[in-house]
Amino acid sequence: MENVFIMDHPLIQHKITMLRDENTGTNEFRKIVEEIGELMAYEALRDLPTEMVEVTTPIEKCMAPVISGKKLAIIPVLRAGLGFVNSILALVPSAKVGHIGLYRDPETHEPHDYYCKLPENIDERIAIVVDPMLATGGSACAAVDFIKKKGGKSIKFMCLIAAPEGLERLHREHPDVQIYIGCLDRCLNENAYICPGLGDAGDRIFGTK
Ligand code: PRP
Ligand code: URA
Repeated sequence: MENVFIMDHPLIQHKITMLRDENTGTNEFRKIVEEIGELMAYEALRDLPTEMVEVTTPIEKCMAPVISGKKLAIIPVLRAGLGFVNSILALVPSAKVGHIGLYRDPETHEPHDYYCKLPENIDERIAIVVDPMLATGGSACAAVDFIKKKGGKSIKFMCLIAAPEGLERLHREHPDVQIYIGCLDRCLNENAYICPGLGDAGDRIFGTK
């Protein structure tokens, strides 16, 4: 599928397995999410544009690449997406951070928005939307819809685990969005949770329930 990238790196797979384990506690869970976020962002930012600048080394002058032009916006879907913010800031400290607050209705599984704030000039930035879970795809589609309405044109979506249903929906509604997935799981259950998944990502990152 064009614009869909499923990670097969053993480090990412190993760490996702640790997250799946119900015995992994909040502190460890949060740390591992951050570690995976950094590994995945490294891959998701592979196509950042560069330009050549002149630099003087101790030996001679040369032309060498730097990241150019478009600035990055990291946009976590609250709450669980917050778990990835520091990972990407560690790689690109100059990135700006927007927030999109959504929660799923427990009955209908439809997303409801409660907060949205994006960095200025979103039309000139590469937006990387982060959320550990892509289940029905409702939240991811709502987040991307919102960014596009505000003028966003270049959008990536990064998640730890996706269900085929959510991937299909996000790709169908937004074929221009590049989707980065740590692992593609089997299916959704009757409560629209991902199987085997890792449970409720927000609860596991923040220790709520
Ligand atoms: C989770 C998750 C996604 C959403 C995915 O958030 O972090 O945002 O569900 O499900 P979907 O693809 O079916 O929309 P949740 O709504 O539980 O909110 P929380 O992060 O505040 O716990
Ligand atoms: N949200 C989660 O946190 N986990 C799921 O499996 C589905 C939606």
